[in-house]
Amino acid sequence: MLIIGAGGAGLRAAVEALKQGVKVLIVTKSLLGKAHTVMAEGGIAAALGNVDKEDNWKVHFVDTYVEGVYLGDWRFSEQLAKDAPERVLELEEYGALFDRNADGKILQRAFGAHTYRRLCHVGDKTGLELIRTLQDKVIHSDASFLEEIMITKIITEGGRVKGAIGLDLKTGEFYSISAKGIIVASGGLGRIYKVTSNSWESTGDGLSLAFEAGSELMDLEMVQFHPTGMIWPPAIRGLLVTEGVRGDGGLLYNTKGERFMLRYSPQKKELDARDVVARSIYREIMEGRGTEHGGVYLDISYKGAKFILEKLPSMYMQYKEFSGVDITKEKMEVAPTTHYHMGGIKVDAETNQTIVSGLFAAGEAATGLHGANRLGGNSLADLLVFGKRTGEEAAKFVKNAKLTRIGGNEVSAEVDRVLSFLQVKDPVNPYEVFEKLRETMSTNVGIWRNEDGLNKALAEIAELKKVAKNVGVSGSTKFNPGLVTALEVQGLLNIAEMLVTAARERKESRGAHYRQDYPELRKEWRKNIVFVRKQDGNYTMRFDPVPELPSELKALLSKEEQENV
Ligand code: FUM
Repeated sequence: MLIIGAGGAGLRAAVEALKQGVKVLIVTKSLLGKAHTVMAEGGIAAALGNVDKEDNWKVHFVDTYVEGVYLGDWRFSEQLAKDAPERVLELEEYGALFDRNADGKILQRAFGAHTYRRLCHVGDKTGLELIRTLQDKVIHSDASFLEEIMITKIITEGGRVKGAIGLDLKTGEFYSISAKGIIVASGGLGRIYKVTSNSWESTGDGLSLAFEAGSELMDLEMVQFHPTGMIWPPAIRGLLVTEGVRGDGGLLYNTKGERFMLRYSPQKKELDARDVVARSIYREIMEGRGTEHGGVYLDISYKGAKFILEKLPSMYMQYKEFSGVDITKEKMEVAPTTHYHMGGIKVDAETNQTIVSGLFAAGEAATGLHGANRLGGNSLADLLVFGKRTGEEAAKFVKNAKLTRIGGNEVSAEVDRVLSFLQVKDPVNPYEVFEKLRETMSTNVGIWRNEDGLNKALAEIAELKKVAKNVGVSGSTKFNPGLVTALEVQGLLNIAEMLVTAARERKESRGAHYRQDYPELRKEWRKNIVFVRKQDGNYTMRFDPVPELPSELKALLSKEEQENV
């Protein structure tokens, strides 16, 4: 079995597949330990009830479903809420060292829009500890790893996967990997925006690969802007400031000294859902109450140095090293940053398999759980719960499948495609295309959206798609970041076009998708927008009704919430 991506979802899937006796190869475009998983700093959401005894899976389910603004599939949110506690305890058995209560149980902190203190954490390095633990487990198993290999194509035949072709970024050699099953766990597309918490790898490759192989994509318009990223100096703009800061008491102020969340969200204040807090911060900045660098203030200094150094050591270091700010004494400057993609590859709610036989997806690359807005800490829970489930299901599939080897002609066709970028006369620089794409996405498809901006973005993307036909680079296949960008940008332009098309189509505001021209939630828009690839490489759009909640789960919602489903 081939797993594309070595973040939390890929590693957790590997653990499970290995348990089932399946041979596993994990391939990453980057290096082990560098996945976006590490940017989920503040914790894993799991209703253990260690701090607030009243917590249980039902409350976690409701929080997840309601804050996803009724667009998620209940089958995912129910399983997430039920299984997360067991997956966290299992992670602890694997060696993760969580912060503890006085009674020795895993300590849990508050996070936005979680009814109870539910986030199991390791200071502000939870994602890192999760990766470290899973990596340790997988490395000491029979799994094989390939680092710095970019998968450029998934090969299929008759609607099922046969394997993939990859480029070794170090040696410039090509790999042909025949596989009975493939799991895409390569994360999201945060780099499509200029300000992001995502590092260079997050260019939506998994979505492009799966779509080209025949899988469907869904909810692409749902992009999460995390309320708090660093803004100064410019080189680190977008770097995440964990929600753990607000969870542990951090307060938001504008330059007039007003604690503005009291105005926008009198009940939940700084701990409302991410879409609400990000929009509020953005409004403060747009209406002229932001700092000279274009942010607002986040202050936790009143908690004192001992507390901050113990609970938020990375935040302390981050501000000290990069901005020269001592957060035990001074306020932080923050602004929203692109953090997560709720949309992605459409998978079956029971198995995580796509409509391509043998092709599975998990983690941020997949969609269905978070709906229109993801709760903080639910991504780590997602990759543990559904990483495990996907590994299990893919292993079952592989055990009953026959290996069909990739043919020589399939390999040479893909090698020729990749090499063609080195042979373009008067080539267009791929970085230029990428930067223009990021510019238009940031300007027109950000926190506030409207018809004019979305039309502008679509026109610019159409133009960039024409220009991108002549993208090319010099040099060879060896150590050539320009070639990597040329490959990424081809897929990303298509994904961006679908994302903006869906955003223009959705004439309402729901979760992270806020339309200035349609500011209300509209019940008739409780539909998932699905993109289907046509034989000729183009696509069509479909509107799927959101799966109906069974009555026993509906009964868990308040009367007001029930009105929306
Ligand atoms: O703010 C954070 O620590 C991020 C967590 C998450 O995205 O789940």
